[in-house]
Amino acid sequence: MSKIFVDACFGKETPYTPVWMMRQAGRYLPQYMKVRKEAGDFLNLCHDPKKACEVTLQPIDIVGVDAAILFSDILVIPNEMGMHLEFIQGEGPNFKNPIASQDNLDELIQGEEAANKLTYVYDAIKLVREELAHDKALIGFTGSPWTLATYMIEGKGSKTYNICKKMMYSNPCLLHNILRKVTDTIKIYMEKQIQAGIDVVQIFDSWASAIEPSMYDEFSWSYMVEIAEHLKEKYPHIPIIMFPKGVPAFLDKVYGNFNVFGVDWGTPMSLAKEKLGDKYVLQGNMEPCRLYSKEKTTACVEKIQEIMQGKRHIFNLGHGILPDVPVENAIHFIKECQRVSKK
Ligand code: CP3
Repeated sequence: MSKIFVDACFGKETPYTPVWMMRQAGRYLPQYMKVRKEAGDFLNLCHDPKKACEVTLQPIDIVGVDAAILFSDILVIPNEMGMHLEFIQGEGPNFKNPIASQDNLDELIQGEEAANKLTYVYDAIKLVREELAHDKALIGFTGSPWTLATYMIEGKGSKTYNICKKMMYSNPCLLHNILRKVTDTIKIYMEKQIQAGIDVVQIFDSWASAIEPSMYDEFSWSYMVEIAEHLKEKYPHIPIIMFPKGVPAFLDKVYGNFNVFGVDWGTPMSLAKEKLGDKYVLQGNMEPCRLYSKEKTTACVEKIQEIMQGKRHIFNLGHGILPDVPVENAIHFIKECQRVSKK
């Protein structure tokens, strides 16, 4: 059976424009909070394939999205490469021993050896595959090498990225060595996700905006393209979505063999269409905070539909849904996308 979401990724005609939401498996759902509580903490949930499968499927059943995204986190990769990871309540992720030198980097494992430690992810994918309706797609994902490196170097989320950027400008060789090691691991990790049963790959470059436009290709985009092209060579039937957040100045320079460009909420959809619409399918891009108002949600969905005309488009938010959004507003968004684009 063909999957509307996969067809849309390849730019094929679909009965309506499919929709999903970044971070759709998460805290705005009371059903997620219940499973999360049973798991004890967030990493336990990631490590438990049965529970990860359950929360992956929740947005399909409750909100009515057209694709599930695997429940996991981008930071399980550096964690399994050997970095000690904790999620501190109210503060987010934390690595105890950030990378500050080549010696620190040399201690980490990589490639096949690191990817083999992520069996709980592949097991979750296999379980989802068994339970997911045949017409729904399963999205697997990774963080981009740069976005992962920001956590590996800063040790946690950052407002200024000063430690990473000090490395970028004063020791670029070390930064490239980190990016290389992570890239080589991601390639194998994503191959294993594909072998376990995902239909689509999304690469999240959530902190793209931390890099000045003239340096973005060198330190992030080129590594993302390398991963995409590696996967495309082996698995051409698996669509790839690139989501670089906060780099509208880079639109003119976007290149590479992938299928879908994720448009963040700071980039006008009309501009993205003008620059990239012929070459890539576009995903996005409602400002996630519009979800606080049903009226403002509808207005935005109609506007995006007017621009994209139901062609070479996937509806989504321009970044992740926030934890205090009412579930009924999320359902409203999905229904409106499906309504306005129905052919
Ligand atoms: O629904 C989905 O999208 C699938 C699951 C998913 C999670 N994280 C679960 C999660 C995905 C795709 C991610 C990706 C991720 N993780 C990104 C890229 C996407 C983006 O939003 O930009 C980033 C930067 C991370 C790193 C991360 N994980 C942070 C900064 C945090 C804490 C802040 C926050 O958003 O809560 C997490 C924790 C996290 N990852 C939660 C969830 C549901 C919340 C943890 C909890 O339940 O307490």
